[in-house]
Amino acid sequence: MDASCLAAPTQANLDRAADLLRQDELVGVPTETVYGLAANATSAIAVGKVYAAKNRPGNNPLILHVASAADAQRWGQVDTHRWMMQQFECASQFWPGPLTIVVPRSANISSAATAGGDSVGIRVPNHPVALALLQRCEFPLAAPSANPSNYISPTTAQHVVNGLGDRVRMILDGGPCTCGVESTIIRLDEAGPTLLRAGGIGVEALQEAFGCRIESAIQRPDPSHRMPSPGQFQKHYSPTKPLLICGVDPMPESAGTVGRIAFAPLADSDAALFQQVWTLSQDGNLGEVARNLFAALREADQSNVSSIMIDACSDEGIGKAIMDRINRASSKS
Ligand code: TXA
Ligand code: MG
Repeated sequence: MDASCLAAPTQANLDRAADLLRQDELVGVPTETVYGLAANATSAIAVGKVYAAKNRPGNNPLILHVASAADAQRWGQVDTHRWMMQQFECASQFWPGPLTIVVPRSANISSAATAGGDSVGIRVPNHPVALALLQRCEFPLAAPSANPSNYISPTTAQHVVNGLGDRVRMILDGGPCTCGVESTIIRLDEAGPTLLRAGGIGVEALQEAFGCRIESAIQRPDPSHRMPSPGQFQKHYSPTKPLLICGVDPMPESAGTVGRIAFAPLADSDAALFQQVWTLSQDGNLGEVARNLFAALREADQSNVSSIMIDACSDEGIGKAIMDRINRASSKS
């Protein structure tokens, strides 16, 4: 793979990245969740390149990345109602961080970025490289995860090289992502926020901050309906090999060729059943499991195991995002 586009996040390279973005080029950018494929969100040409590079359906809107809550107010409309302003105040306590809010959009953003819709997802990422780049740009960055559509999201710069290296002008290398799963997405509604995607911030923490129960609108796909968050297709984050969930799927008969992704170390007698074992955390810490999940899925997918068996956990906190990704990655449709 061509790694020539990899760049250390020096001041000079950050300046060059901002210039490339001004010229409607694409840049791979680290965030705390996953790497993003960034483009100038006010340019239809740049945004069009994002959809083409990822082979992403045109009806799936992009998230805008901005440097501050004040910038979020500039590019989204949050002051039209008192309830919205109040919810915006609550949400922005989580910034910079892995929380995306969906609000009415402003007219300056390319309608391609919002897939023609009148709402927009916005967040302030918690990564020094992303923030340093955003501060250099006069425009928000539209950035989906930097993977070909439906494949596993990238959590290192090398993952971006492997999947999209020939489609971007530069990839800023900010090291491995510390959160490891994408942002939580909520839509601000008069009746209170609605959960559109489980992610790096647990629903419990949001409920506490907003002082109300947060209902989930995460759905299985139904081709006859428009989805509340169009990117939430059931099959997503998918390895090319079958992914089986412990306690749900039966162990294949040819167990000796199966790879095993374990959340904590396995007993030797258990580990011996599998061709290869990847251990995500030495003590089953779910934050660490989330951080290492996508890299392990990629490694297992690229190894010579026939299928992959993975642990499951409860839906609490970050566990909800972990199980959402695992269920989608194991889905056959
Ligand atoms: O953590 C993240 O959010 C990462 C990093 C790069 O910031 N980005 C990311 O983008 O996960 P992407 O494109 O892979 O996922 C964005 C999700 C999609 O499911 C999309 O449908 C949803 O956000 N989305 C974007 N705008 C929306 C809107 N206006 N209304 C509802 N859902 C929206
Ligand atoms: Mg994605």
